[in-house]
Amino acid sequence: MTLILRDKASLREWRAKVTQGTRVGFVPTMGALHEGHMSLMAQARAQADIVIASIFVNPLQFGPNEDLSRYPRPIEADIEKLEAAGVDALFLPSVEDMYPTGASTLVEETMVSGPLCGAERPGHFRGVTTVVLKLFNLVQPHVALFGQKDAQQCAVIERMVRDLDVPVEIRRGAIVRENDGLALSSRNVYLSPEDRAAAPLLRQSLLAVEAAYQAGEHDAEALARIGLSVLAQSERIRPQYWEVRDPESLGVIATVGARGALCAVAAHLGTTRLIDNLVIGRG
Ligand code: PAJ
Repeated sequence: MTLILRDKASLREWRAKVTQGTRVGFVPTMGALHEGHMSLMAQARAQADIVIASIFVNPLQFGPNEDLSRYPRPIEADIEKLEAAGVDALFLPSVEDMYPTGASTLVEETMVSGPLCGAERPGHFRGVTTVVLKLFNLVQPHVALFGQKDAQQCAVIERMVRDLDVPVEIRRGAIVRENDGLALSSRNVYLSPEDRAAAPLLRQSLLAVEAAYQAGEHDAEALARIGLSVLAQSERIRPQYWEVRDPESLGVIATVGARGALCAVAAHLGTTRLIDNLVIGRG
């Protein structure tokens, strides 16, 4: 049975009872769970004695014109999936509990958060780091799992944990995809059938760039142009960015060198914003 902890007080009580030496694995989510989330639960299961997940649609990481109010919240189905996966506990707090009136402290990483999604979504990563640090303080996990699907989120959290000496190990889980290559996302349900049909072009643009890299094109700008040209095959896709960056700092690079590179794409299809990425040049 998955124990459901609906507020911080019950979570703290639960955590205090976990005996010393028991390894706690944690998977933070915003719910609408799919196979991407569940692969992280399985990895946590393999790496820890106890697995706890959280579902919290964090208002702090949504911009004023983003999809906070329409974000899918199928809580009963989510709980069933967690039960089936043998997740030991679910932290399911309310907004009021997480952000009491007058809360005035934010956690901000100031470098890795800057480009890519950080530039397109001001304040987004500050919302993520603030909630994730709060969750780490409450859950006190030994290991926490994050998906490579959100590569910049992983890089920002790894930097925060390093810079603020948070005693947790961060592990990345590989991107889980549909058969046609579309990365699983809770937002895919918003896509119209026509947009859904066009959406695999994001992945195809990444693979085309990987092929070009392997064929000898190492210039970052030239590679990004190849990625954009693939997206141009569908007029339904409105690219936001297509970038080839340092895989850790996410800084600008001229050419793909020994450290490899993160190829990252974000695009709108209708009102839905999709992201995807691929690391190239790493052995
Ligand atoms: P959410 O979008 O629900 O994602 C929860 C975790 O699942 C994240 O680490 C994300 O990278 C991972 N994930 C999503 N789709 C995936 C896929 N197709 N394959 C592998 N992993 C995937 O990310 C968040 O929530 C929030 O920002 C959060 C970290 C919970 C803070 O609010």
